[in-house]
Amino acid sequence: MHDPRDEEQRAPYDPMPHGPPVVGVGPWQGPWPEGRQWDPDLLREGDRRNVVDRYRYWTLEAIVADLDTRRHAFHVAIENWQHDFNIGTIVRTANAFLAAEVHIVGNRRWNRRGAMVTDRYQHVRHHPDPASLAAYLHALDPPVRLLGIDNLPGSMHLETTEVPRDVCFLFGQEGPGLSEAAREVCDGTFSIAQFGSTRSINASSAAAIAMHGWVRAHADLTGEDAWRG
Ligand SMILES: C[S@@+](CC[C@H](N)C(=O)[O-])C[C@H]1O[C@@H](n2cnc3c(N)ncnc32)[C@H](O)[C@@H]1O
Repeated sequence: MHDPRDEEQRAPYDPMPHGPPVVGVGPWQGPWPEGRQWDPDLLREGDRRNVVDRYRYWTLEAIVADLDTRRHAFHVAIENWQHDFNIGTIVRTANAFLAAEVHIVGNRRWNRRGAMVTDRYQHVRHHPDPASLAAYLHALDPPVRLLGIDNLPGSMHLETTEVPRDVCFLFGQEGPGLSEAAREVCDGTFSIAQFGSTRSINASSAAAIAMHGWVRAHADLTGEDAWRG
């Protein structure tokens, strides 16, 4: 029977309404493990965070340090002139696919709701304008190419392009799409094929497609790590 108290306990991001009523694990049972990665508060209280099982009871700092040892070479960037609601979702997907960094171009403030706290585990960098982003990426070693992702006239096709390893995908906002200033500094613009009547897909959907294109081309899919939920 449906018990409304279950809903109170359920984490707001829980995508499995018929799964267990609470996410995560309770207090550690038995003698506490030794090591700097363990968080005494979580061991004592339990760990209800949205993290994969291998990071249960780890401190935030230890998780970020471990992710830093195996981040992928791709970056993602989004323009933020109107507080686009897609940014949080893009940050969450960038975390799942283990992007090197997420770049926000324009306003510093962004709507964190869709990120579901994943931004804490991600390096999020701000740039005042697209030229600053391009200069930052081109100065990295190895240099990172800035590819605008938008279905603009003259865009090349993402599906038939060999996605570079050292790349940053830049997305525009709902409505205006990539700004003129962004288009000018991109090393190329690429569209995602569409077949229906709508002019475009949602920016965070486009970001997921582009990031997954990188994963299919470059990520190591041989280890167990790639398939864990
Ligand atoms: C809603 S779209 C913006 C407007 C779009 N250029 C139009 O003409 O309707 C928001 C962002 O999503 C991404 N996007 C949406 N559809 C896309 C597609 N088919 N190919 C590449 N990017 C797309 C782009 O980054 C774009 O700037």
